[in-house]
Amino acid sequence: MWDPATYLRYGDERSRPFHDLLARVPTARPRAVVDLGCGPGTLTTTLADRWPGARVTGLDSAPEMIARAGALETSVEFAVADVRRWHPDPDTDVVVSNAVLQWVPGHRELLTRWARELPAGAVLAVQVPGNFDAPSHRALRAVATRPAWRDVLGALLREAPVDDPVGYAALLADADCAVDAWETTYVHLLPAPADADHPVLSWMEGTALRPVRAALDAAGWADFRAELGVRLAEAYPPRQGRVYFPFRRVFVVARTGARAEENP
Ligand SMILES: C[S@@+](CC[C@H](N)C(=O)[O-])C[C@H]1O[C@@H](n2cnc3c(N)ncnc32)[C@H](O)[C@@H]1O
Repeated sequence: MWDPATYLRYGDERSRPFHDLLARVPTARPRAVVDLGCGPGTLTTTLADRWPGARVTGLDSAPEMIARAGALETSVEFAVADVRRWHPDPDTDVVVSNAVLQWVPGHRELLTRWARELPAGAVLAVQVPGNFDAPSHRALRAVATRPAWRDVLGALLREAPVDDPVGYAALLADADCAVDAWETTYVHLLPAPADADHPVLSWMEGTALRPVRAALDAAGWADFRAELGVRLAEAYPPRQGRVYFPFRRVFVVARTGARAEENP
């Protein structure tokens, strides 16, 4: 279950990679644009602002996210859908997927399929978090594998569900795309008031901790949260009322039909 309000905490920090990703999409006048895993839809609306002549669609498997998106005043059409079953229309010129595919097992095969199904010259723009080896996730795994929780939570833990930029570049070049891949580590400065939860705990509640919360009862979740909070405070100590939270993200922008462009 996704909670749009919890996810939208730290909205500025979460939206920056989306804008950095879109800045590398060169398409001038796309016919149709699709945002796969659009979440609460706020970022999808910026696609309609950029390309007012395009048919813009936002798809997400979480009904609560689509309900939130549907309340926005926008020309974007939103619908509940699982990206694993999505196929592009023949006029889909831009596909965006921001901070989604880390949740989708087998997403490498999906990327290859989409690249092959899209029309020549279409652009596939993807961003995934590359922070699974960060102190935040190491702390999460350390707590979840303690005897108290490992039977319930062990299967939920994901060591490295995403690739690095070279992996995505090679994958999509093999699918006949021209690729632009990179990574960025953002250092988010999160306010850390003394009377509030640790901000990295708050951040993780919107994303990585969702499956943990869903698997535990109220008392178990309170204990888990308290223990993780202590570890996060050690890993990210507050300094002058804020925490420095480095966050690595992996980006790839791929344009289909590269060979035809090279050999017109
Ligand atoms: C971290 S949010 C990102 C939302 C949005 N793209 C953004 O950048 O704000 C991840 C979203 O992926 C969606 N999602 C996860 N697996 C999905 C799937 N298989 N099909 C469609 N959406 C999925 C979730 O419901 C959630 O809204």
